[in-house]
Amino acid sequence: MIRHNLPPRAYLDEDVFASEQALILREWICVGRETDFAERGSYCAVMFASQPIVVWRDQSGRLRAFENVCRHRMSVIAEGRGVAKYLSCPFHGWTYADDGSLRAAPKAADLIAPMNLKLPEYRIECWLGFVFVNLDEAAEPIGPRLAAVESMLAPYELHSFEYSTRGSTPAVAANWKLMLEVGLESYHFPFVHNETLAPNLSGVPNPPCGNGNWTVSVEPRARSLAPRADDPAALTDAHRSTTYTFGIFPCTVFNIDVDNIVWFTLLPNAADQTAMMFGSAARDRRAVRILGEDEPSNESDYLAWSARLGGEDNAACLRVQAGLRARGARPGPIVRQAENCLYEFQDYLTGAIPNYPTAETSH
Ligand code: FES
Ligand SMILES: [Fe+2]
Repeated sequence: MIRHNLPPRAYLDEDVFASEQALILREWICVGRETDFAERGSYCAVMFASQPIVVWRDQSGRLRAFENVCRHRMSVIAEGRGVAKYLSCPFHGWTYADDGSLRAAPKAADLIAPMNLKLPEYRIECWLGFVFVNLDEAAEPIGPRLAAVESMLAPYELHSFEYSTRGSTPAVAANWKLMLEVGLESYHFPFVHNETLAPNLSGVPNPPCGNGNWTVSVEPRARSLAPRADDPAALTDAHRSTTYTFGIFPCTVFNIDVDNIVWFTLLPNAADQTAMMFGSAARDRRAVRILGEDEPSNESDYLAWSARLGGEDNAACLRVQAGLRARGARPGPIVRQAENCLYEFQDYLTGAIPNYPTAETSH
């Protein structure tokens, strides 16, 4: 049966966006690698679905997630990343310990004990070295949801990827689903990435694969990577000649390539405002290389190449965002052989959000 892409309303309508934010707040959101928080006291402030969160490794070594909002006048407390034993609110200096409790408040010392104020704490889980946060206390654990992904990733031995980098980009004026979709499908490579990705990667037809929570695209490399003496024993030539792109719904994409993995999580702030957190992890420094090259890249060349790829995808998203408002804009069919991941993303959305608009229901 022919299925169409999502209608303009799915990308533009504020009520649809509100239902997506509610969904995101019930889901596990990837906020980085455990090695991004290597030191005790390492923290990172994250904002997703309009919720300010701080992920913080406490002095006992445990990773925790708190609401990043001051219990005084509700200012956001921490910004960016850093290492700290205490976090102080920049407004009036109320100071919190790494169990979330208020420990100091200028001119209000007498209030601290009777008020017993704490930052709300959220669930956090580590999975294959990735850190996930969930604001829903009743959420199922992440492991069983991603069991099949875990077995596909087992040969890479991700727990041994100890080198990690991370960054973030300011909001792009596009809907978050456009940015997820362009991150998942490889159908656009020959056109959007004709000089960067297309010479090295091609998409192949993907059979239905996900279980409703994730999807994967398979991209054969033009040339296999050479085996290395310290490769994990379970890695085969098939792994060396293939890049896999996983969509971990709703907001995260993983791209795995033998000895390095690149991830990004979309941070929807409004229906047409999407920021991004991203990072990479690798078995060691040698695995940081531009696609198609065997040798490691220096950091600045690699970052410039990544920024070019990101710019190519963002430009494609902005062109769609501009087209969505056209009077005659109508979504065409999903090309199942090349865009199966979009089909599965749509199944996820319609399964999770009642009455989600599809082309089939929006006439
Ligand atoms: S709002 Fe944080 S100290 Fe006043
Ligand atoms: Fe792309």
